[in-house]
Amino acid sequence: MVTARGSLQLTLALFKPDITRVPHVLKAIRQRIVEEEFFIIRNKELRLTREETEQFYIEHQGKFFYNRLVTFMSSGPTQALILAHEDAIKRWRHLMGPTKVYKTKFEAPSTIRGMYGLTDTRNSTHGSDSPDTAAKEIAFFYPEFSIEDWYKNDEPSF
Ligand code: TYD
Ligand code: MG
Repeated sequence: MVTARGSLQLTLALFKPDITRVPHVLKAIRQRIVEEEFFIIRNKELRLTREETEQFYIEHQGKFFYNRLVTFMSSGPTQALILAHEDAIKRWRHLMGPTKVYKTKFEAPSTIRGMYGLTDTRNSTHGSDSPDTAAKEIAFFYPEFSIEDWYKNDEPSF
C-alpha cells in the first residue's frame, strides 16, 4: 500500500483509438488500473494530428510500421493519463503486456494487450519505457504539468 508521494513514480499511459470508443473495454481497463492501485493523476481525451503523432513516435521514424502507426494513432480519439505508483513504469508495462500480439496471446493472455489487442499496431495502450521517456511524454501531453514540482511535494494531493 502506497502511503507517501516519496515512493511514487509517474508514467504516461495512452488508451489508443482502437479502444476509446469501446465503453466496456475502457471500463475493464480502468478497473484493472484501480485494482492494481495506480493513482490517476491526470486524464484527458484528445485527438492527435498526424504531425503530433509523427513527433510523439519520432524514435520509430523509418521503421516498417511507422506510417501505419501514425495513420492509426491519428485516426480517432486518444486518452492520455498520468499514472502514479511505486515502480509505475514497469508495473504499467507489465499490466499492458508485450508489444507483439502473438506474444500476448501465448505468453500473457490476461494482460491488457492480451485481452484487447487486435494487431501489433492496434494494441490498445501505450506506456513510457523509462524515467526519461516518461518525463518527455508527460511534457508532450501535459506541458503545464511540472513533474519536478509534483515529486517535490510529499503531500499526496491530487
Ligand atoms: P514499441 O515502442 O516498440 O512498443 P511499445 O508500445 O510496447 O513500447 O512500438 C511503438 C508502437 O509501434 C507499438 O505500440 C505499436 C507499433 N508497432 C507496430 O505497429 N508494429 C511493430 O512491429 C512494432 C514493434 C510496433
Ligand atoms: Mg515504446
